[in-house]
Amino acid sequence: MTLRGFELKDAETILAHFNDLELRQFLGHPLPVSKQEEEEWIRRTWEARQKGTEYTFGIEENNKGLLVGSCSLFDVHSINRNAELGIAIWNKSLWDKGIGSEAIQLICSYGFYLINLHSIFLRVHDFNKRAIRVYEKLGFQHVARKREAVFIDGKYHDVHVMDILEDEFRKLHPPAPPFIAATGE
Ligand SMILES: CC(C)(COP(=O)(O)OP(=O)(O)OC[C@H]1O[C@@H](n2cnc3c(N)ncnc32)[C@H](O)[C@@H]1OP(=O)(O)O)[C@@H](O)C(=O)NCCC(=O)NCCS
Repeated sequence: MTLRGFELKDAETILAHFNDLELRQFLGHPLPVSKQEEEEWIRRTWEARQKGTEYTFGIEENNKGLLVGSCSLFDVHSINRNAELGIAIWNKSLWDKGIGSEAIQLICSYGFYLINLHSIFLRVHDFNKRAIRVYEKLGFQHVARKREAVFIDGKYHDVHVMDILEDEFRKLHPPAPPFIAATGE
């Protein structure tokens, strides 16, 4: 697997799946997006990376060179050295094949070992059992629950906040040389 920066032409690939309602209910993006909005989002990922406030990458499968999703460390806090994690494998037929777990491990390695984060947190909807399973498996802990914090498809849902500290991650996933080459930077 390779994490790489987005190109404008990737907007087509994202759009092919991103307007799927099931995917969007997990991501908290209820409204459809256009190609132009995707291109603007890609441009923003470049600017934010230059500023050091966000590191967003495309997830590319090595065997077919296929762009299958995105993952991100965003709202990087320069003093507290923390950031929020986001991830999406866009094509539902690729869920449950281990891609998400590998990509999260890779971007957390990037966060802790290359950009010197101290902790990484995330927010996940309570009904997203697959994602919660993956985060728990990788060592994230439940630290809070925001009650009825999102409104999706006519109902309010709780949001779990989970996090992992650098020393916890390091024990479970020690630095391994390949992730450095795999970031594309
Ligand atoms: C969440 C996501 C990143 C996970 O990536 P993935 O490649 O599908 O996940 P993996 O294959 O690595 O692991 C899935 C795990 O969840 C488990 N799982 C699947 N459905 C489950 C369910 N309903 N309840 C509990 N566990 C479930 C699988 O068995 C597997 O666990 P295992 O390795 O112990 O067998 C991906 O599914 C995705 O992008 N989903 C849509 C967007 C999203 O939810 N983003 C996260 C927002 S917080």
